Amino acid sequence: MDDIPVAQRLVDAVISDFPDHAAGTRPVHTIGIGVDGYFVASDVARTYCIAEHFQGQQVDASVRFSNGSGSPVQHDGWNDVRGMATKFHLKDGAATDLIAMTLGEFFSRTVDDFFAFTTAARQTPVKRESPWQKFLDMLQLKQPLPDPYRRQTESGDAGTLAYANGHRFAQLGVFQAGMIGAPVSYARATYHAVHTFVVTGPDGIRRNVRFSWQPVAGVCTTDPTAAPVDKYLHQELRDRLEQWPARFMLMMTIGEAGDAIDDPTQPWPAKRLRVVMGTLTLTKVADDQAAAAEHISFNPCRLGPGIEPSGDPILHARRDAYQESCQRRGGNSCPLSGNSANARSANAK
Ligand code: HEM
Repeated sequence: MDDIPVAQRLVDAVISDFPDHAAGTRPVHTIGIGVDGYFVASDVARTYCIAEHFQGQQVDASVRFSNGSGSPVQHDGWNDVRGMATKFHLKDGAATDLIAMTLGEFFSRTVDDFFAFTTAARQTPVKRESPWQKFLDMLQLKQPLPDPYRRQTESGDAGTLAYANGHRFAQLGVFQAGMIGAPVSYARATYHAVHTFVVTGPDGIRRNVRFSWQPVAGVCTTDPTAAPVDKYLHQELRDRLEQWPARFMLMMTIGEAGDAIDDPTQPWPAKRLRVVMGTLTLTKVADDQAAAAEHISFNPCRLGPGIEPSGDPILHARRDAYQESCQRRGGNSCPLSGNSANARSANAK
């Protein structure tokens, strides 16, 4: 087992949680939609970071919104984490990526944690917990098992909840994921890049920061007591963008001494300074969805001068895992090869 590269084992582990995984697709965040837009940095952004897209000129952007599930079956109305992966197109054909999701914190601190989590999260036949069991769970301060959806036969919920109930560091992420619901629109959710990054300013000052996208239209989820609709998020986005562009503010939270830098399960105190780094304007659903949603690839370590990864082991592991996944599904531009030491200077398409 140990002679199989970690990236391969990570992708295999993720696939094992979705028995209906379809070859040639992403093993998670499988259902997605590609959108065109542009980003304009705020006036203060360049005082914090020398990265090209923070200097104030308009930068083209490609965004892929997704449901977190690795199933090829689209269940927009089900409780699920959503993803927003953004590619900023820089000059001379270069690009930098920012991958974010609707969870504020992750549920694993290390790669070993992640393997244990994926083992716990394997799908098992769903069962409806009795009201008494739910009551008992709550008395023990455990999160009760969610009721299965109509036509849902298997789920990883029982395993992930059991795992979280036994692993304190996973609780924030897993419990949030269990209650996150479904957004009324991909443009009405907040997305977090979760990890800490290190940005360098023009004065050479390096800061530990975390990024998130705040929707200008506000956050809104569907009614959790209503029957979920399977497919609405793609058409909603098309209709919305035909009427008016959708906007997101890029927020950068600045860490202080004592904040968890290398641990994506740990939140930072809410009173940390948050700076608006710019506005992303989404103009239309991309014409070529095969290119903009299926073949496109993102990597959390596709950074560039001015932005570096922190020492977070999950962030570093993702670098090669996404590359591996991209190659397996025949995705475009998987340029980050070699070991993760190169991640700091990676700045390719
Ligand atoms: C060790 C931890 C993780 C592993 C092994 C992992 C694995 C993967 C893989 C294999 C893909 C498909 C990549 C592709 O084929 O292009 C993916 C996609 C994605 N992951 Fe992760 N992931 C991890 C942690 C995270 C975290 C912390 C976030 C939070 C931001 C995240 C958000 C996403 C999103 C939004 C996508 C979809 C990207 C797209 O639209 O192309 N993942 N992940």
